[in-house]
Amino acid sequence: MHEKLNIGIILGSTREGRVSPLVGEWVKTIADQRGDAHYEIVDIKDYQLPLLGEGDAPGIAKWNGKLAELDGFVFIVQEYNHSLAASLKNALDLAREAWNNKAAGIVSYGSTGGARAAEHLRGIMGELMIADVRTHPTLSLFHDFTGQEFTPQDVHLETVNLMLDQVNAWGSALKPLRK
Ligand SMILES: Cc1cc2nc3c(=O)[nH]c(=O)nc-3n(C[C@H](O)[C@H](O)[C@H](O)COP(=O)(O)O)c2cc1C
Repeated sequence: MHEKLNIGIILGSTREGRVSPLVGEWVKTIADQRGDAHYEIVDIKDYQLPLLGEGDAPGIAKWNGKLAELDGFVFIVQEYNHSLAASLKNALDLAREAWNNKAAGIVSYGSTGGARAAEHLRGIMGELMIADVRTHPTLSLFHDFTGQEFTPQDVHLETVNLMLDQVNAWGSALKPLRK
């Protein structure tokens, strides 16, 4: 049997009142039931990252160190002005090699399921040599949230599991390319 991968569930938003921790915990609960990998929540907010080029805060090294421990990612992506949150883009920009040759899935949300933000993220992942898998659970602000509460429909369970199957398969396949 091969070693279990370390998969980080990355919370993209950092604003006061964000719902990303609810979505991330929901994904982690589903993921932990599988027993096929080590899943952990990685909260960008914990690293207190400066904007790129505006200082050499200790959080940058810590952020790169955390990413280096991981074999794959699930990005929790929220749509801001038809794109991804600036906090996530900045966190992506603040590392390079630590992203390379790893697999990733996306779970997004927004009025149209966060699809526009997710497609922007896919372009960025190409540059960072992150292999983004096809299956992509999209959560609707109208159907999967009730006010500030997160009330996901059952239909997403299968899609989340399929996405995790793909992240694990590609994360394992790319292992020889990682140093
Ligand atoms: C600055 C801003 C811009 C937004 N723009 C969009 C948008 O273009 N499309 C959309 O579907 N939702 C948009 N929203 C709604 C967010 O997707 C929604 O508030 C979501 O909960 C944000 O994620 P968060 O709670 O994790 O921060 C926007 C929200 C903010 C704060």
